[in-house]
Amino acid sequence: MTETETEPERSTDGTDAATEGFVLTGIDGLDEMLGRGVPAGHIITVMGSFGTGKTTFALQFLMQGLINGEKGIFISLEEDVESVIANAASFGWDLRPYLKEKKLHIVKLEPADAKTTVTRIKSELPDFIKRSGASRVAVDSISLLNMLFADDTERREKLFSLCKQLKSTGATCVFTAEVKDDNARSSRDGLVEYVSDGVIGLRFNERENGDVQLVIQVIKMRRLKHPRSVKPYSITDQGIEVHGDMEVF
Ligand SMILES: Nc1ncnc2c1ncn2[C@@H]1O[C@H](COP(=O)(O)OP(=O)(O)OP(=O)(O)O)[C@@H](O)[C@H]1O
Ligand SMILES: [Mg+2]
Repeated sequence: MTETETEPERSTDGTDAATEGFVLTGIDGLDEMLGRGVPAGHIITVMGSFGTGKTTFALQFLMQGLINGEKGIFISLEEDVESVIANAASFGWDLRPYLKEKKLHIVKLEPADAKTTVTRIKSELPDFIKRSGASRVAVDSISLLNMLFADDTERREKLFSLCKQLKSTGATCVFTAEVKDDNARSSRDGLVEYVSDGVIGLRFNERENGDVQLVIQVIKMRRLKHPRSVKPYSITDQGIEVHGDMEVF
């Protein structure tokens, strides 16, 4: 992750012309691969099978914002608030002071209470983002959220309108998404990659001898000429680090 204080060449109004309009994801190696991070206001879907680091990615993205002095919202459909805090702490990210100062909000949505959850998201989320002043929002996972809708038509409609509302807030968003069992290049519902501005794929690369490597690929990024190369990454006790200078095996 990057400490803003150490960034050189800032103009007098505090912005950096070269990075204006861009947001650092906080994923070391990925921001360098993309050049300046991702375009501000984008909805980025991080898609991968279980254990590839999707939740870690979302937390690291929010943590980079908090370090920058930005505010964030983590919407969790899986883990409860305490578990999210403990998860972040295992990477050395202490969320509690940010929660206390209301710079970070963790919202746990109960999938069991589907109807209320869906209504709440639609009616309250955009307003909540604006009121809290959050410039980064993470939804973990959009696949679970999509499962709350009855059929494909409703899912498509609701996801489209959620994205539209999120875009109206100007916040940069990260959605995590599960992939199909037989195709790691397609999300479970096959929808979210179309409505997102950017798609980043995480997957396991397995060799015949049993060696396993985690690999990342920027599959789509609107408004940006980006590399499509597949690069190895690791998850350490400091989060995700992409090895842009290494080749996959
Ligand atoms: N503190 C840590 N230090 C090093 N590696 C860790 C740490 N915490 C998790 N990991 C690694 O990251 C993996 C899981 O990361 P994460 O929970 O972000 O994945 P995920 O894609 O969200 O999984 P799921 O689909 O199950 O939600 C773990 O299986 C483990 O290999
Ligand atoms: Mg997860």
